Amino acid sequence: MLQFEPLDAPFGVAAYGVDLASGVDSETFRALADALYANRILVIKDQHCDTEAYLAFGRQWGTPIRHVQEKIRLNGHPDLVAVGNVTRDPDDDIARNGAAFWHTDQSYESDIATATMLYAITMPATGGETRIADMKAAYDDLGDAMKQRIEGLSAIHGYGAASGRDGERPVAPLSPEQAALVPPVRHPLVRRHGVTGEKALYAVAGTPITVDGLPESEANELLATLKAHAVQDKYVHEHRYSVGDIAIWDTQMTLHSAKPIGRPEPGNERLLWRISVRGTPAVYS
Ligand SMILES: [Fe+2]
Repeated sequence: MLQFEPLDAPFGVAAYGVDLASGVDSETFRALADALYANRILVIKDQHCDTEAYLAFGRQWGTPIRHVQEKIRLNGHPDLVAVGNVTRDPDDDIARNGAAFWHTDQSYESDIATATMLYAITMPATGGETRIADMKAAYDDLGDAMKQRIEGLSAIHGYGAASGRDGERPVAPLSPEQAALVPPVRHPLVRRHGVTGEKALYAVAGTPITVDGLPESEANELLATLKAHAVQDKYVHEHRYSVGDIAIWDTQMTLHSAKPIGRPEPGNERLLWRISVRGTPAVYS
């Protein structure tokens, strides 16, 4: 029987008693999705899915996204990304730690990701956490003056725009052909959720190049201020995975950053299968 329990964290909820490999009916799926939208992180415990069962579950959330970086896709499964250090090129530090900076997935595209899920296949004895920050709480806590200042403003986003900024780790550069697939796009700094209509800060780290209509120095100052506010510890859950966890976060209302990890050694191997999706789950249409 499906049960929920709050995470030991500022936000987020765990779900027990559901077996995704057996398939999820629309009533159960709706309960899971409602829990995600109310809590921004949903960790479904104790799962035993193969790639097909996991993908079937992922498709209930929307349309899986094929990552522009082909080399990080799971061999034979282009809709899955292999996250961690058990990758095709484990000696490539940038590929291994490509998510170790604050961002939300696909904010460099106009049709953004609406959910990302990571399924813990192999986890190291220590380390390997993902930090996730609550952008609804961060927005709600802003003062009225800042809320008025940013209402109606939009940022221009591009892949890897914040690479190396504020001490963040670098992102692997795109080839000219890949870059041509993801030209700069615009998103509001304050964005309403596609299902709940609630407001949150959106993608104030990772991909913003500038704020449309502001002088460069003012845009940089505003983006730095919003990011520093948004990733304070009081808004962050550092998720330590158990093997079998499927951790889902609402990419419309969070930022995340992987903790950096070294090359794989015995006891230090980390592999998670990622699915990111676009669109709204069919149960809400
Ligand atoms: Fe990510």
